[in-house]
Amino acid sequence: MGRVPALRTLISAEQIDARVRAMGEQIERDYPEGEPVYLISILKGSFIFLADLVRRFQRHSVRVEFMGISSYGAGKTSSGQVKVTRDLDISIEGQHVLIVEDIVDSGVTLSYLARVLAQRRPRSLEIATLLDKPDRRMQPVDIKYVGFEIPDEFVVGYGLDFAEDYRNLKDICVLSE
Ligand code: IMP
Ligand code: MG
Repeated sequence: MGRVPALRTLISAEQIDARVRAMGEQIERDYPEGEPVYLISILKGSFIFLADLVRRFQRHSVRVEFMGISSYGAGKTSSGQVKVTRDLDISIEGQHVLIVEDIVDSGVTLSYLARVLAQRRPRSLEIATLLDKPDRRMQPVDIKYVGFEIPDEFVVGYGLDFAEDYRNLKDICVLSE
């Protein structure tokens, strides 16, 4: 038997709730009233963040779409090649688009995705991420909305996984062996 991984709370459910609430209010204020906003959730890690964020909007024309991205790299990093595994089935041309991501680490995934989506000529294109690990950036990413900056540690919970486990945790926790 291997050693059981230990979990240490980094950001509590209460802290997440307060921050996501504030982000939602700020984001909605930034988009002109009455104009549709497309939230593009990157599967799977951002699904809980998306669900909480979308409920902070007052307008009804806040639309939810999903994309799948995979990156091939070693272990817990994604320094390799990125590709779209599940694409949008709508056109975003002329629309306000906000990418909703769980965490930006090396920046490889999002710098690629931002390029792909920009080619589709949206009216605006911005990024919201719950977590940011700026110390690990290898490719620059222009992120407009950041929930929390965190140190270079591997975290799970609130949608984030390790080998598909731990997404159900209410807090964001550091996973250590
Ligand atoms: P990037 O391309 O290195 O920025 O990778 C971002 C992706 O790697 C995220 O969308 C996550 O799926 C995953 N990732 C990076 N750091 C962590 C972490 O600490 N916990 C869980 N997943 C992570
Ligand atoms: Mg992800």
